[in-house]
Amino acid sequence: MRILITAGPTREYLDDVRYLSNASSGRMGYAIVEAVQAAGHQAVLVTGPVGLTPPHGCEVHHVETTEELNTACGNLFPGCDGVIATAAVCDYRPRERFPGKLAKTGVSLELELVETADVLAGLGQQKGNRWIVGFALESDEFAHVNALRKLKNKNCDAIVLNRPTAIGSQSNQIEIIDPAGQSVAVYAGEKTSVARDLMQWITEHLLK
Ligand code: CTP
Repeated sequence: MRILITAGPTREYLDDVRYLSNASSGRMGYAIVEAVQAAGHQAVLVTGPVGLTPPHGCEVHHVETTEELNTACGNLFPGCDGVIATAAVCDYRPRERFPGKLAKTGVSLELELVETADVLAGLGQQKGNRWIVGFALESDEFAHVNALRKLKNKNCDAIVLNRPTAIGSQSNQIEIIDPAGQSVAVYAGEKTSVARDLMQWITEHLLK
């Protein structure tokens, strides 16, 4: 199988040197690429800027902005059997990107933000007979409800619930939620081991 994996953060530029982003390390996504390859599949990695070297042998596409991620995934998904979306995507971008470097003026600056594309929801709409595993990063007590809403909105076959403590960390605790809203598996440990567990679950439940 050929499996698309998104990883890392996106960046949304305010001017040519400043951007909005998040602290995603890309570790979970890169660990999943290795697990996909170890399970005998071809991994297609679309990665935001991270300080990691892509695993040997995978096809790599580097992106920076959400729009670039959206374009790359839209082009690659039709040639893949499924997608595992770990990317920590910026949901907003500055309305305007100023050329050069904005200089200070002595008065406060208001930043207007507009929503970016929902990449995974777009893939969900063109899913056909492919499968989709999303990640949901949830911080509050409505985590399960929110994760299930995302699963439905993005037409996922399963969604992986994790917490903000996962961002930038070596380890993670994940919970897999199915389309019925059931919590069907919980894995914890180093991201490399959690990635293997997740891939094993996908193999047993989604790969035909
Ligand atoms: N995702 C995406 N495009 C976006 C936002 C998220 O493809 N613009 C993907 C993520 O890669 C992840 C899933 O959708 O697999 C859920 O991401 P998350 O940040 O948890 O949720 P959001 O869709 O951003 O929803 P909310 O803002 O309500 O948290």
